[in-house]
Amino acid sequence: MKKGMALLIILITVVAILCILKNNKKEVVKEEVETNPYQEVKFYKKENLERYKKYSISNPDLNSKDIVLRVNMNLDNSFYTNTKEVKEFNLLMLVNKYNYLAKDFEVPNLVKVEEYAKEGMYLEEKAKDAFIKMANDIKKEGYNLRAISTYRTYDYQSNLYNNYAKCDGVNNADTYSARPGFSEHHTGLAIDVDNITKIYTDFEDTDEFTWMQENAYKYGFILRYPKDKENITGYIYEPWHYRYVGLSVAKYIHENNLTFEEYYYEFLDNKLERS
Ligand code: DAL
Ligand code: ZN
Repeated sequence: MKKGMALLIILITVVAILCILKNNKKEVVKEEVETNPYQEVKFYKKENLERYKKYSISNPDLNSKDIVLRVNMNLDNSFYTNTKEVKEFNLLMLVNKYNYLAKDFEVPNLVKVEEYAKEGMYLEEKAKDAFIKMANDIKKEGYNLRAISTYRTYDYQSNLYNNYAKCDGVNNADTYSARPGFSEHHTGLAIDVDNITKIYTDFEDTDEFTWMQENAYKYGFILRYPKDKENITGYIYEPWHYRYVGLSVAKYIHENNLTFEEYYYEFLDNKLERS
């Protein structure tokens, strides 16, 4: 009887200790979630935790998801700092003020744009085919689309940017022209267009622009530098600049009113599946 009682007491004690340990663990986890709300976000990066915390102090109105997304985009650093080289060509590559191409980066399958373009225009083959299809279709509606600037080499961009910077000052030039290596035109996937009759900077006021707003995504193109997204893209609104990303991504970006940066860091940076 005495032995049985002793065993019962030991059993109760062990159960009590296990319960206490379990509750303590729960408390620790709860505390971690409370002090680190970012780990709940699906593209959370442990190595960026201190940056999330710092960025949230200067941006108290942003929610945890936006804090994580923007820090992952590198927006807590000034443009052209903490930059990374993009080494491989990919139809969904991101080149912007934080991600650059080396001087000798070469675009595979670069082909001449024989129609609907100024002389000497080149694009990556898939982008070129999609552009020609789009230009053919818009023509059937009685409109005109012409490629006026497509693939640019590092040296070409260097001359362009340096001239703008000389005439307009570096700060102004940076709002509309990429520094060499940082231009999306270097990927062979970007096109500036006009409608032949108006200067490209007035493209927004054309019927062709209205058509592009409704239809460009159906050919795999997105408006790369939208209005009111300057703080994400780093560039002023450019109604004339389109980027080829393929049909499915273009449709998603169009329907969700995203920048390519937002799409990239939500679905491609960590290779997350879109649902
Ligand atoms: N105008 C765009 C941003 C470029 O220079 O690539
Ligand atoms: Zn452009």
